[in-house]
Amino acid sequence: MKKKKLKPIYLDCAATTRQKPPQVLKAVVQYATEVGVSHGRGTYEAGIRANELIFQTRQALGKLFHIQRLDRLLYTKNVTEAVNTALKGFLKSGDHVVLSSMEHNAVIRPLNKLKAQKGIEYTIVPANSLGRLNPYDFEKAFKPNTKLACLVHASNVTGNLNPVEEVGALCAKREVAFLVDTAQTAGVVPIDMQAMHIDFLCFTGHKGLMGPPGTGGLAVSPKWNLESFIEGGTGSNSDKEEQPSQWPDKFESGTQNYWGLAGLKAAADFLLKTSVQAVRRKEEALTGAFLAEAGRIKGVKLYGLPGGAEKERVGVVSLNVEGRDPSEVGFELDQKYGIMTRVGLHCAPLAHRTIGTHPVGTVRFSFGYYNTEKEVEKAVKALKELAKP
Ligand code: ALA
Repeated sequence: MKKKKLKPIYLDCAATTRQKPPQVLKAVVQYATEVGVSHGRGTYEAGIRANELIFQTRQALGKLFHIQRLDRLLYTKNVTEAVNTALKGFLKSGDHVVLSSMEHNAVIRPLNKLKAQKGIEYTIVPANSLGRLNPYDFEKAFKPNTKLACLVHASNVTGNLNPVEEVGALCAKREVAFLVDTAQTAGVVPIDMQAMHIDFLCFTGHKGLMGPPGTGGLAVSPKWNLESFIEGGTGSNSDKEEQPSQWPDKFESGTQNYWGLAGLKAAADFLLKTSVQAVRRKEEALTGAFLAEAGRIKGVKLYGLPGGAEKERVGVVSLNVEGRDPSEVGFELDQKYGIMTRVGLHCAPLAHRTIGTHPVGTVRFSFGYYNTEKEVEKAVKALKELAKP
């Protein structure tokens, strides 16, 4: 007998959002077919439309994140590249950095490289076993040579929202620069770079913003300078053999991802129209329903802030089924129920050590704007069956 084909349920939005607003795909195709050229190169009409796209995308993102200076919004290919651009362009030999124990490898790996290469040092502020951080522990870790604090806005393991405003205010008071990794929050939690005292805002386009992969950015506060770490053609000051010093050209050498940026602009416009608050309310409802039901299943252990705390988390829930390996549970969810989750360490081994799930990790369910209550119900039902002794 032929196996019945399952309708797939995608619950891995923390890795990437699979479904995008139709406007995003339309904008990519429209750019490719109607414009299709580089900005800052040709003076023909299509080239001018490319320049407009680059600028209008900056405007939409600037509005979304309350960015003070648009020339200080640099395009990158993802949040990892944004973090690397900030850390490698900012830190100098002998600098000290404070970071949380919930950070992703996107922060820890470049810091370790800088430690080996330039002799920077860092202190890790531990979260408790629920993944909760005390902002004042950051202040306690500051030293006279502390130049930077790094904090992930929401953990990609527990989904907990971290005290960005509080740590930002402490950094501003001490003139320590503040880097925030918004991989799990950009597009799903309101972000105000200025009110939150963020100096380096790192974001990706393909997750909560629901734009194309290969897009992202770094917004830098006018308070700080940054060295470029990629040099080349910018279409400006072409008579000079040295990298131009003006922003954003200094950081944007080479041909940009125009197709992606066209999609990213459409995604940002969609969010400005729909409102990030509306996306947040929807994700909160789905996460709350999942947490409440999954929390009642005997043999299922949930991590992060307890059920009922969905206002303090994003749509990311890590769990384990008693006596079962997470990879086996993830495999069965996919094979028997058509439910896609991400298992293991989620590129965040330090966060897993913090909550006591290293080295096996967890099964992570992550919800997005296009998920439905029905899909949450099906996920809970599948989990109930898998947890049966
Ligand atoms: N860091 C991304 C995740 O959590 C890719 O899945």
